[in-house]
Amino acid sequence: MPIFVITGANRGLGLEFFRQLSTDSSNTILAATRSLSGDLGSLESLKSNGATLHIIECDTGSQDSIAAFSKQVTSILGGPEKKIDFLLNNAGINATHWQTSLTLTAESLSNHMNVNVMGPAKTVQVLESHLQKGSVVMNMTSGLGSLAYIRTKDLAESAAYSISKAALNMLTIHQANNLKGQGVVVVCVDPGWVKTDMGGTGAVLEKEESIGGMLKCLRGLKSTDSGRFFVYDGSEKGW
Ligand SMILES: NC(=O)c1ccc[n+]([C@@H]2O[C@H](COP(=O)([O-])OP(=O)(O)OC[C@H]3O[C@@H](n4cnc5c(N)ncnc54)[C@H](OP(=O)(O)O)[C@@H]3O)[C@@H](O)[C@H]2O)c1
Repeated sequence: MPIFVITGANRGLGLEFFRQLSTDSSNTILAATRSLSGDLGSLESLKSNGATLHIIECDTGSQDSIAAFSKQVTSILGGPEKKIDFLLNNAGINATHWQTSLTLTAESLSNHMNVNVMGPAKTVQVLESHLQKGSVVMNMTSGLGSLAYIRTKDLAESAAYSISKAALNMLTIHQANNLKGQGVVVVCVDPGWVKTDMGGTGAVLEKEESIGGMLKCLRGLKSTDSGRFFVYDGSEKGW
């Protein structure tokens, strides 16, 4: 009876996680969306697929919203000691892709750090009691967060996004170290360049392939994998 928590589940890769997991009736999925007053049609339409589904509000850019979300998670699960098997920190933004290091603004960097780094940090903090031996935390990063990769490319734009994903990678290692004693496995995963609103139509991967590969990778993780940086296909990525 695995329990999954997914942030940013209403569209894109988060919704694809939900779609694939929803066909297994033994799964319980807590799908978080920025606002319950948004369009939840895609999530609702998968409700009859078999899995047990709860749709909860969580704006990962708001500390208050994340705190309120955690109370609902605890209530749905039936107590703070109930284990979450997979926490998928998927929600993320690339809101100023045109900015380079030469045009980067404090406002943009702060916004990306808040949603892409502090969001996953706070989410783990408030759900810590549910993260127990064998739990997996996945921070959805990007190839653009890899220093090794960016050094080989002529990437000019998406400065705030790229910097925030590199910070998310470092957060992953801190979380892995801090949760090692509890037996929790924390990894960051690059989904590849995927056809979503963020990835755009020029992307090379279909959502099905990226998320299918990622779920296989996440299900096969061992305790010694904690603190590692993976690609969706299970290969390891250079930092
Ligand atoms: N697609 C790619 O090629 C690619 C490549 C590398 C990494 N990624 C990463 O994969 C993750 C998912 O990306 P995607 O391609 O699915 O992007 P997307 O199509 O733009 O979807 C982003 C999701 O994140 C949610 N989100 C954004 N800010 C939020 C907030 N403050 N609170 C709650 N939810 C929030 C969005 O909710 P709303 O609908 O409310 O905005 C939406 O559900 C991101 O972390 C992204 O950086 C994607």
